[in-house]
Amino acid sequence: MLPQNLRVNIPEIDTEHDELFAFLESFKAYCFENSPMPQEKRNALYGLLVSHFKTEERLAAAVSIDFSGHEDAHAKMLETVSQTLNQMASNNSDLYSLIRYISYWFEIHILRYDLALAKYLATAMQH
Ligand SMILES: [Fe+2]
Ligand SMILES: [Fe+2]
Repeated sequence: MLPQNLRVNIPEIDTEHDELFAFLESFKAYCFENSPMPQEKRNALYGLLVSHFKTEERLAAAVSIDFSGHEDAHAKMLETVSQTLNQMASNNSDLYSLIRYISYWFEIHILRYDLALAKYLATAMQH
């Protein structure tokens, strides 16, 4: 579950953030095992990120705000994650760093971008 200060009060966004954090949490098990994280799990993580960013893009487009800075932030993050996933050693030694990077990125990103988007959406929905 997300800490209260990371809730944006747009149910669709909060639910997806929760799913992402829960999914990341489930990855921690692989850090302490010798078996590599299956490729399908890597793909699932990447897919979840892509689809979450699409959700925010769609919501932003519906109220036609300037989403370019926010979108750039998503794109840069996806690039870093895909590079790391592709280069990750088979023994998962980098996995813990990746999990921490994504969690930290989300914290900063939600506070800086998603909350602003949510405020805008909430205002737009009142009109
Ligand atoms: Fe988000
Ligand atoms: Fe975002």
